[in-house]
Amino acid sequence: MNEFILVSHLEELDPESKYLVHKAKEATNHAYAPYSKFLVGAAALLENGKVVIGSNQENAAYPSGMCAERVAVFAVASQFPEQKILKIAVAARQKNGKELVPATSCGPCRQVMLEFETRQQVQMQIVMQGQDHQWIVAPSAESLLPFSFSKTNLTHHDAIHPA
Ligand code: THU
Repeated sequence: MNEFILVSHLEELDPESKYLVHKAKEATNHAYAPYSKFLVGAAALLENGKVVIGSNQENAAYPSGMCAERVAVFAVASQFPEQKILKIAVAARQKNGKELVPATSCGPCRQVMLEFETRQQVQMQIVMQGQDHQWIVAPSAESLLPFSFSKTNLTHHDAIHPA
């Protein structure tokens, strides 16, 4: 399946995606975001059925912080190195709010998810909230980052500029 699924409300998502969004929402409770006050959670579904969560972790030295998606993906890579991620959901809310708000993964998170997807050789669906309560199920990380930079760019260097 290589199509984007767009639904106009969370309730219309398939049960598995809805469950993962629920886990991602729970993960926002562990976010550390005193600077942006934008709490993000991510929940990765592994092929063994386990769900690994991540949340954004900010820092007074701003660029030292990390997004929820990358926290989750790196946790999987380091704790469950044999596992593939089948689907990852992202959910966000403001610090004092319960309502989920739009959060479509940033470029660097897409880049990291794409490399993980390439390594595992299985597509990873990405569930995230767009504008106006819409929810998006992207079929793969690749679909969110066309014309991306990858390890092949590094290895082709010699072919383009022979010594
Ligand atoms: N953030 C995420 O965790 N994931 C996203 O997809 C977008 C942004 C975090 C980074 C920062 O801690 C806060 O949200 C505001 O940008």
